[in-house]
Amino acid sequence: MTIRSLIVGCGGYLPERSLSNDELAAAYGLETSDEWIVERTGIRRRHLAAADETASTMGAAAARRALERAGVDASEVGLIVVATATPDSAFPSTAVRIQALLGNTSGFGFDVSAACAGFVYALNVADTFIRSGQVKTALVIGSEVFSRIMDWSDRGTCVLFGDGAGAVVLKAGEGQGTADDRGILSSHLHSDGRHGEILLVDGGAGSNGKPGQLRMTGKEVFRHAVSKLAAVVDEALAANGLSHADVRWLVPHQANRRIIDAMGKKLKLPPERVVVTVDRHANTSAASIPLALAEAVNDGRVQPGDLVAMEAIGGGLTWGATLARF
Ligand code: COA
Repeated sequence: MTIRSLIVGCGGYLPERSLSNDELAAAYGLETSDEWIVERTGIRRRHLAAADETASTMGAAAARRALERAGVDASEVGLIVVATATPDSAFPSTAVRIQALLGNTSGFGFDVSAACAGFVYALNVADTFIRSGQVKTALVIGSEVFSRIMDWSDRGTCVLFGDGAGAVVLKAGEGQGTADDRGILSSHLHSDGRHGEILLVDGGAGSNGKPGQLRMTGKEVFRHAVSKLAAVVDEALAANGLSHADVRWLVPHQANRRIIDAMGKKLKLPPERVVVTVDRHANTSAASIPLALAEAVNDGRVQPGDLVAMEAIGGGLTWGATLARF
């Protein structure tokens, strides 16, 4: 008998304000066009947080929806792991703030910093706590307010990101230790700090004392993305004795439609088996996978027994993949 982390509920939260590419360009005086953005990225719209919304308020909203779907009371949660690059403050952590908003006092929480790969990292951390027997029920949340770290005069980055939050509830279950088990089968994480300069926030919550903004060398990031993501998904499949044909759904990090399509092709998945939200959400960093997963699970696309592959790459560079059977 093996302990497995079952994904028993998913929830998402998006700020009310949604802007089309044209509306964004007009609002921020950007020299860009809907055509350029759609052609290069597939992005048509993004949500932007209201002034009083933060990573913790949005994360708590997503968490409440995930808990409701799971039929789990907030008091039962033993661990809250939040992936975010835009915490409300350096401390208390976003996880602890969310714990208070949910009214939980028995568990513990902390944040994970791995940029756009943060959700896969956080899922691996929570899964490890569950497998070790230390925790029975966990909340894993990705919540981001990238609109606060944008350089709104840089059209090369500010059109690419959006705000939002997503959450999943994990519960300890039993399996046989085979790839047929329900729950998280395995996660595979990587980082390579030598590439830190191609995607970073140049200040902010860190110790270098100036407000930070996101900087990116888009072409370089693109160059790394598909090869690293394809390799890590293959690594995850091989670790479980599975092949591309076993994957029912790809729930990729939603950075760019061209990267998503290339990954679907590598896995030989028909386009309808690849969950896409980037057109409506843009890149919500660590929130993008749980937001996409919440859509596909809650609208009934993902069915019991389906194998879901999740993959992400982000600043660091950090990247990883998780396989989970529903
Ligand atoms: N609207 C119009 N033109 C724009 C623009 C915009 N929003 N942003 C950049 N441009 C211009 C540039 O100024 C440049 O003009 P120039 O040739 O006159 O100098 C031209 O478009 C090409 O810029 P470049 O950055 O080389 O474009 P690109 O083809 O690499 O596309 C990205 C840019 C960002 C769409 C692309 O590199 C990408 O998707 N990278 C991956 C980014 C990513 O996914 N990051 C997140 C990972 S978590």
